[in-house]
Amino acid sequence: MSTESRAIAGKLLQWFRQHGRDLPWRRVNDPYSIWISEIMLQQTRVKTVVDYWHHWMQRFPHVFALAEADLNEILKVWAGLGYYTRARNLHKAARKIVDEHAGAFPDTYSEVRALPGIGRYTAGAICSFAFNQATPILDGNVIRLLTRLYGIQENPKEKPTNEMLWGLAAELVKTADRLSSGRAPDCAHLNQALMEMGALVCTPKAPRCGECPLQHHCCAYRDGLVESLPNLGQRASMTPRTFAAFLIHRQGKWLVRQRPNNGVNAGLWEFPNVEVSDGTLSPSELLSQMLEPALPATPEKLEHVGTIRHSITRYRITLHVYHTSVPMPKHRHHHRRHSSGTWYRPSELEGLAFPSAHQKILRRFITTPPSTK
Ligand code: ADE
Repeated sequence: MSTESRAIAGKLLQWFRQHGRDLPWRRVNDPYSIWISEIMLQQTRVKTVVDYWHHWMQRFPHVFALAEADLNEILKVWAGLGYYTRARNLHKAARKIVDEHAGAFPDTYSEVRALPGIGRYTAGAICSFAFNQATPILDGNVIRLLTRLYGIQENPKEKPTNEMLWGLAAELVKTADRLSSGRAPDCAHLNQALMEMGALVCTPKAPRCGECPLQHHCCAYRDGLVESLPNLGQRASMTPRTFAAFLIHRQGKWLVRQRPNNGVNAGLWEFPNVEVSDGTLSPSELLSQMLEPALPATPEKLEHVGTIRHSITRYRITLHVYHTSVPMPKHRHHHRRHSSGTWYRPSELEGLAFPSAHQKILRRFITTPPSTK
């Protein structure tokens, strides 16, 4: 444990006690609640997660409630957060905790890590936050802080550099553990401090070096490299994709379909849509091609009602939204459900899980948002 590590760990702890945000999952220390927050926070911003987390904790307050829940209901509570594999893995992990640990959240790093959807970062976060164990964490925020602090110019995604960063994160949390008087959960606070500094001070753009407690230790600051670290190499560029989505109305109901059980957004509901790859077909031609069995051959009056923009992973998606009404079929035994989808009332649509782009369509064009989630 170097003198330098001691000084850095001490300053981080002191800074966190003064400046750490009062976030709801920092007020609890049960591993279940912390686990849920960490999974939600993996790909989603703090501001968005707060409401989702409260709602989830009301609906599934403990691991038994989650293990017993129906996957569709879980997806519905998750809807809008994206990356739905996270929700499916929460369900699988809850079942495993009930089956293999009698419902008690495991408290060793290796058992936590063995749960579905929990990798090295999340296991380290849960064990440090919930059990105050000296397990390191390394996420984007921590990578940025450590590469700047220690002046690491290699790409942190490359294996040897990544391992070195894990080693530095481990050294800091172990130092906090050794220095601890035992009065405060210092491992938890040290890790929270690393993340919080990355989020609030050591930011990707315009970092607040003037407010940084580690300024005197920071190699990047000393060498004028703050803006050029971390060195993430060439970023993959975003590919634009254009879709047409159709709001098809028939006597108070709207046509939606469920995605297959594998692939992107598996099992979620969506408005009928198609990728507009070459622009040679008109929207009404696209619609009749896609929905032949459900609709009269040529839908009447297709109206462009708006455009939704949505970015995911490496796609920048533009979704043109069209509206049309169709008459009830003449024969009496028409079906609510058929190969092209199912007709639902707005109140019923509210109960289905949609990916966020389609949730935006629902909110903007069909229902008004409820005042509370
Ligand atoms: N990002 C990931 N985990 C977090 C946490 N516990 N608090 C704030 N942001 C986070």
